[in-house]
Amino acid sequence: MRVVVEEEEAEVMYPSTPGKVKVEQRSSAAMSRQVHRCFASTGTMFLWALFLVAMTATYLSFRSLAGDAAASSSRYFPAASWGGLHWERQIRASASPRRPPGSAEGAGLSVLVTGAAGFVGAHCSLALRKRGDGVVGIDNYNSYYDPSLKKARRALLGSHGVFVVDGDINDGRLLAKLFDVVPFTHVLHLAAQAGVRYAMENPSSYVRSNVAGLVSLLESCKDADPQPAVVWASSSSVYGLNDAVPFSEAHRTDKPASLYAATKKAGEAITHTYNHIYGLSITGLRFFTVYGPWGRPDMAYFFFTRNILQGKPVTVYRGRDHVDIARDFTYIDDIVRGCLAALDTAGRSTGGGGRKRGAAPYRIFNLGNTSPVTVPALVAMLERCLMVKARRHVVEMPGNGDVPFTHANISLAREQLGYKPTTSLEMGLKKFVRWYLSYYGYNRGTHAFRNHL
Ligand SMILES: *[C@@H]1O[C@H](CO)[C@@H](O)[C@H](O)[C@H]1NC(C)=O
Repeated sequence: MRVVVEEEEAEVMYPSTPGKVKVEQRSSAAMSRQVHRCFASTGTMFLWALFLVAMTATYLSFRSLAGDAAASSSRYFPAASWGGLHWERQIRASASPRRPPGSAEGAGLSVLVTGAAGFVGAHCSLALRKRGDGVVGIDNYNSYYDPSLKKARRALLGSHGVFVVDGDINDGRLLAKLFDVVPFTHVLHLAAQAGVRYAMENPSSYVRSNVAGLVSLLESCKDADPQPAVVWASSSSVYGLNDAVPFSEAHRTDKPASLYAATKKAGEAITHTYNHIYGLSITGLRFFTVYGPWGRPDMAYFFFTRNILQGKPVTVYRGRDHVDIARDFTYIDDIVRGCLAALDTAGRSTGGGGRKRGAAPYRIFNLGNTSPVTVPALVAMLERCLMVKARRHVVEMPGNGDVPFTHANISLAREQLGYKPTTSLEMGLKKFVRWYLSYYGYNRGTHAFRNHL
């Protein structure tokens, strides 16, 4: 059943994505004519029904087996999509900095970026490559949202000389191989199962990515020689039901409101133990609602844009006592600058051979914008950018793990990273909408959007 649901969503979500869905519709129409002819009598119809039930059961059990095998990686598919001399050459080339040692900005970094085909991962990988650092990406292209968007980001990275390994961070053998081939100076760990509401649908995916995947990655980092410094994405959601504003790193974070938040909080605790026992240099970044071009289709600003363009209503949640929900929206370029500053200022890991030789840094920073905007104000901004009126459907917020507001105190990041966000939501949304219209083909005159202008 899930397959069907995903296809429907994909169709709604990506109206102008060419090919696939439409082809399937045509072939299913042809098939239904066939089926109709075969159901000539009730007797054969009964046999056909039995046959179909058996086929469906076989298909479903095969699917779940295949899914499990893919998830637990190379035990089942040894070296299927990685390995070999050519592959190693590609990795080495991608990982080598183009800044020579001794240049004015210092020697280039060599960074392993997990989730490199993701939203923040792709932007950070590009920015690192553009300033001359070596970058190797890894991504499993899971189907939480349209994998074709991830493939498009990978193509963009490829055109700038960034190689992205097709693999899973739970695959310890693959990670060990990567550290074997390249002595990475830094790991930028952005691979994660994101989304607050989806955690109620598929809780185990959060544990697999955000807990098991993180441990797998840290194991390889602590075994690597030399050990890399690790910068990773935590989340503003760790503040949970904290109601002291603005959120400061010193505030308590022991009241998460969603499983997503709980796994990110677990990540902060887990990274701390690897810092304490093995001397890994750790920097956790608590991102506040990152948005922008190449963003994630599961986020409100993204699917609001889609719905408004398609004339569909947007569902605006309202908090208790009719208080509007607000988010500290942070533009992707500001986040990228924060991530690169975190890499540049990360102190060295001190461990080797399973032991540490001294204390290593353990840091946590908020990366936000410090100016929360309510969801109705967000919709109004999108209307102005798109020049289309939205149909609003206002409902009480269900108890689904969303918190009523977020607001970052960024003085720590400002002081230690020189972090200073410069993009207002109004300005950032303009850039997002420009990208959206071009990516989904609204600018080619082929779309209904023209009629609204
Ligand atoms: C922000 O956090 C810093 C500590 O990092 C604190 O000194 C300051 O008072 C906080 N600002 C506000 C407005 O709460």
